[in-house]
Amino acid sequence: MKNSVVNLLHNGRIGLAPMEGVIDATTRDLLTRLPGFDWAVTEFTRVVDACLPSRVFYKHCPELNGTRVATPSGVPVSLQLLGSDPAALAANARQALRLGATQLDLNFGCPAKTVNRHDGGASLLRDPERVHAVVNAVHGAVSDKIPVTAKIRLGFADRRLALECALAAESGGASQLVVHGRTREEGYRPPAHWEWVGRIRQRLTIPVVCNGDIWTLEDYWKARTLSGCQDVMLGRGALADPWLAMRIRHWQATGERLADTSWQSRATLLAEFAALQRSTLRDRVVTSLVKQWLGQMRLHHAESARRFHSLKRLTDLDALLDGLSAPDPNPVALDRQHEPA
Ligand SMILES: Cc1cc2nc3c(=O)[nH]c(=O)nc-3n(C[C@H](O)[C@H](O)[C@H](O)COP(=O)(O)O)c2cc1C
Repeated sequence: MKNSVVNLLHNGRIGLAPMEGVIDATTRDLLTRLPGFDWAVTEFTRVVDACLPSRVFYKHCPELNGTRVATPSGVPVSLQLLGSDPAALAANARQALRLGATQLDLNFGCPAKTVNRHDGGASLLRDPERVHAVVNAVHGAVSDKIPVTAKIRLGFADRRLALECALAAESGGASQLVVHGRTREEGYRPPAHWEWVGRIRQRLTIPVVCNGDIWTLEDYWKARTLSGCQDVMLGRGALADPWLAMRIRHWQATGERLADTSWQSRATLLAEFAALQRSTLRDRVVTSLVKQWLGQMRLHHAESARRFHSLKRLTDLDALLDGLSAPDPNPVALDRQHEPA
């Protein structure tokens, strides 16, 4: 036990996960203004057969416009590609490099039916040789200039090929592997199998990053202890509690726990998010994005759940923003719904 606690105090890196349709450049900006994250990854850019026009890369990764490919607070951003055709991925990797990308990540985890039907994302985990071919082609195209990393699940239908796929990514030239500790069949059903991430870590020489179901400081301890990984990646947990990475860092530095994030702080963040998104998107779209984020916050925070219930039907952005700053709609009655049975 003592060893694992000592180990946890070695900082380790924390990555901000790619989340298509959820974590865009504005969200990356807001989440990385708080200290804690070491790198972030864009939503995937889907490659079929053609070399994509530059505007597609700028759309997914507006950070390419900056002097460094980083969030405004300086956290490096890796550009993620998804596809199954090694030659097309290599051509698009070269295109990304020309546009200034400084890190590329390859997606072997996406469970979406439309993506898998076209042989992308997690469907490649059925065949480790194809994982190797994709990583190898992209690595061959850009590796003398920028690192190529990969992100996998534990498998498609089951975990039998988990280690082989991980080894295939490593031998293809990946310089880091993020492992989401579930198969494609398991979707997002808990638990994430952190001990399986650990089995992979034991066999690889590149850094293996533990991902999946890290919602709290305690989850961080458990995920690191069970996987033995130094590094973790946070996705939904960072949206549910945008202070989670900072909470982890604060505990590592002081041994003290930060107080839970108040509704007031959450409401301020959501209002800022809406203001930033409103400068480029229509109000209708911003309204659903704010509700989407509040929907993530509600999972582990009783007041956010109450707010979500009272605001989820609003379609007007100003009414939604007023609702965020209004008094708590029903503090006691709904709290009971979130008490453990
Ligand atoms: C809505 C949504 C979109 C996602 N989009 C991507 C993506 O574009 N690329 C990717 O590699 N993973 C994607 N993921 C997977 C996450 O990066 C992460 O692996 C998964 O959510 C597990 O981590 P978590 O429990 O910390 O959220 C997505 C997940 C969700 C829920």
